[in-house]
Amino acid sequence: MNINSVDIVSAQFKANPFPFLASLRDSEPVFQTSLPDKTPVWLISRYEDVLALFRDERFVKNRRSAMTAEQLRKLPWTPPMFRPLERNMLDLDPPDHTRLRTLVHKAFTPGLIGKMRDRIQSLADDLLDRVTDKRGFDLINDYALPLPMTIINEILGVPTKDRQKFHRWSTAVVSLTSPKPKMSVIPSVWMFVRYLKRFFELRRREPRDDLATALIQAEEAGDRLSEDELLAMVFLLLIAGHETTVNLIGNGTLALLEHPASMNQLREDPSIIKTAVEELLRFTAPVLMTTERYAREDLITCGVNIPRGGMTFGVIGSANRDGTVFQNPDELNLVREPNKHLAFGQGIHFCLGAPLARLEAEIAFNTLLRRVPTLRLGVNVEALRWRPSMLLRGLEALPVQY
Ligand code: HEM
Repeated sequence: MNINSVDIVSAQFKANPFPFLASLRDSEPVFQTSLPDKTPVWLISRYEDVLALFRDERFVKNRRSAMTAEQLRKLPWTPPMFRPLERNMLDLDPPDHTRLRTLVHKAFTPGLIGKMRDRIQSLADDLLDRVTDKRGFDLINDYALPLPMTIINEILGVPTKDRQKFHRWSTAVVSLTSPKPKMSVIPSVWMFVRYLKRFFELRRREPRDDLATALIQAEEAGDRLSEDELLAMVFLLLIAGHETTVNLIGNGTLALLEHPASMNQLREDPSIIKTAVEELLRFTAPVLMTTERYAREDLITCGVNIPRGGMTFGVIGSANRDGTVFQNPDELNLVREPNKHLAFGQGIHFCLGAPLARLEAEIAFNTLLRRVPTLRLGVNVEALRWRPSMLLRGLEALPVQY
């Protein structure tokens, strides 16, 4: 395989990135390639090196503190309205990150997630009630997407009547993070920001038992989230809260359909669901790569020079198939233990929503297998369309029959 001709953002690559990633681990563990706009990037593919990247203080999240004045001048112009969104904690380093994460921890608690169990179950049942009349359905748009999308909206407290609008706008925001953002989505993002500002005003006047109110009220040693930080936090939670879990449920279901023995094993013994979800996180790479990290100085990692400001990604989906850490890494084993996968990252940016994602996935898989025992693929695997994306790995649609 010619590793230099692979387009890592393409839908075609997303369908099966694993042979390419195996050859990177083997021969180019720090691989320089470029984005569609020609920006050079470095991909780190071995488990131990990805783990080290999460902890290496020579790499930072905030590009403004990594780049030279000259590099910053060359960055594409950001409309002023979007600048607050750069204040999201996944794009920041300590002490800003620490402060924001401490504040959100006060609001996004395990107690809040635990309270959602019955609601997630009833939603999974409702979604399947709606499709069981037909002979087939699209597992992504009828089940895997509306489940986490509705739950994160309900946790935030978005009024039911506004959810459709909210979904349209959030799709526009997500497309801004794609490799080739379209300028035509800007009005939608603008309307979304305006909507959220009004929503926060309303919650300030009339507090409710929801995450938006809790974030507005979260206070640590007299410190609170500013209006911009609140906006950035809600955007981050909303996007991270469903764009990832949809891929776990979608890719996971596809993996089970492709491995009927594993699917039967889980159907016959739903009590293995916890290890099964961990294995589907490892095996299906719903988040294929970490978000970007920038070299704070000219540096050498694994013998490769990365210049100051260089954009680096840890390839989670590759680390999780590293044979030096996982026995038979290309085998799906729903009772694999230990399973120290990196699907939720590591270190200070470890996924805040991991307990919610795990709970949603456990309920989604067990409910699907129980309610639709004869589930099968509605098309050939080769006909499935994957979403082009830098970081995420997920299907556009998954037609199934029963
Ligand atoms: C299967 C589902 C999910 C996967 C695989 C996933 C994966 C990840 C990964 C890999 C990171 C770290 C990125 C990095 O360090 O570059 C991360 C961070 C984060 N995730 Fe998730 N995530 C999932 C679901 C969720 C959900 C449901 C939420 C919220 C409701 C969420 C909220 C966040 C937030 C806020 C961060 C940033 C944390 C920080 O900067 O301190 N995620 N996630």
